[in-house]
Amino acid sequence: MIDLKSFSFLSTLPTRELEKLKRVCRFQKYTSGTRVIIEKEAIEDLIIVVEGQLAVIKTYGERKTTLFNLDPGDAYGEVEILNGTPALATLIGYQEFHLMFIPKEAVLRLIGLCPGFAKEARDLYSRRASQLLEEGEPRTMEARVVTFFNVKGGAGKSVISSNVATMLARFWKKKVVLLDLNLAFGDQAILLGLPTDKHIHKLLEETGPLKLSSIERQLTQHSSGLKVLLPPPLPELAEAISPDLVDRIIEALKPHYDFIIIDTHNQLTEMELRIFDCSSLIMLVMTMELTFIKNTKLLLDLLIRSKIPRDKIKVVLNRAFKSMGLEPAKVEKSLRYAISHFIPSEGNIVVPSVNQGIPFVLSKSSDGTAILLAMRKLCASLTGEEIEKGTWNMFSLLKEVFGI
Ligand SMILES: Nc1ncnc2c1ncn2[C@@H]1O[C@H](COP(=O)(O)OP(=O)(O)OP(=O)(O)O)[C@@H](O)[C@H]1O
Ligand SMILES: [Mg+2]
Repeated sequence: MIDLKSFSFLSTLPTRELEKLKRVCRFQKYTSGTRVIIEKEAIEDLIIVVEGQLAVIKTYGERKTTLFNLDPGDAYGEVEILNGTPALATLIGYQEFHLMFIPKEAVLRLIGLCPGFAKEARDLYSRRASQLLEEGEPRTMEARVVTFFNVKGGAGKSVISSNVATMLARFWKKKVVLLDLNLAFGDQAILLGLPTDKHIHKLLEETGPLKLSSIERQLTQHSSGLKVLLPPPLPELAEAISPDLVDRIIEALKPHYDFIIIDTHNQLTEMELRIFDCSSLIMLVMTMELTFIKNTKLLLDLLIRSKIPRDKIKVVLNRAFKSMGLEPAKVEKSLRYAISHFIPSEGNIVVPSVNQGIPFVLSKSSDGTAILLAMRKLCASLTGEEIEKGTWNMFSLLKEVFGI
């Protein structure tokens, strides 16, 4: 039996309302690729994703654009229901998925009756309305801020973030800046083979308001076109960098870049919370070990309790082997979260690239490998070209990457 209280959208409802809701809502399972809501058609229910993942796709003239994805626990339909419009987008599921339908009359009744629920609906509405109601092509957005994080070290945050940033700059020709905010022990200078004379600490010497030109002067250029803000040269200088300074750097860079990629360290402090606030996406990098699964689960629960929207948090499974001793689908179930990206373990490609200070996406030895394909898919999902394959049931992705 599904516990309705476990969906954050419904978590504020009193038990008696949840009981009533159980009587009027319905559940349905679908096969991969099914369209459940079709743009311009009437919408009768609010949906909540129980399992699986769906893409929300909107048509602009001849073009179709994926606006965002829905993960387990996410709701859709609040903008249409509150505005009284037909569906503003089409929803298509990846792999098998399972939905809960709440009739719109029940939603409107609960909004009138329960202030906590009304607030949830209003928050969701204000996040999505501008995107869904946009009539022309979506406006040129400011930089997407993509942060790689976990509370446990060695997951591959630095390796993945440097390769993603390099790939977007070199092959997608995007304007990309990488911020190494592992301030005491950052590895990006080594991973990218960069000199360390310019760095964030020098910004403390600036007097007056922080100007874009001052930040740009401290960025180190990589041969791929990527620019990098390096951490202070000595660990003891890290403390001097405040969350406020980082916030101002991100805000100043945002209007001038396509992507701001952020590498972090393994603690959840005021600094990381501020970085999350500025981020469009938080990529939780984990490996297939019980300790990572436990910590990632605790972290996901904490982030969701802190009201960080689920569609902002993605799980990246790194260093996956063909045989991992643990079934990926079980991991997703215990996380109650889809694994959005899957990076295979390729020590013979990654380790030499780390030691030479050349991202493997630039090296000939990675041509045609599974890890390069996985990185390409990750980048394509960030640029919005590829509909992201969240897996929940991830065997089809294993098949795609390994051909098994
Ligand atoms: N997909 C992969 N295949 C093989 N080895 C990998 C892979 N990803 C990472 N590694 C190895 O794991 C090591 C740790 O990765 P990385 O430094 O990126 O982790 P991190 O999460 O940034 O760690 P820290 O929290 O200590 O900064 C790398 O030096 C590399 O050798
Ligand atoms: Mg690191």
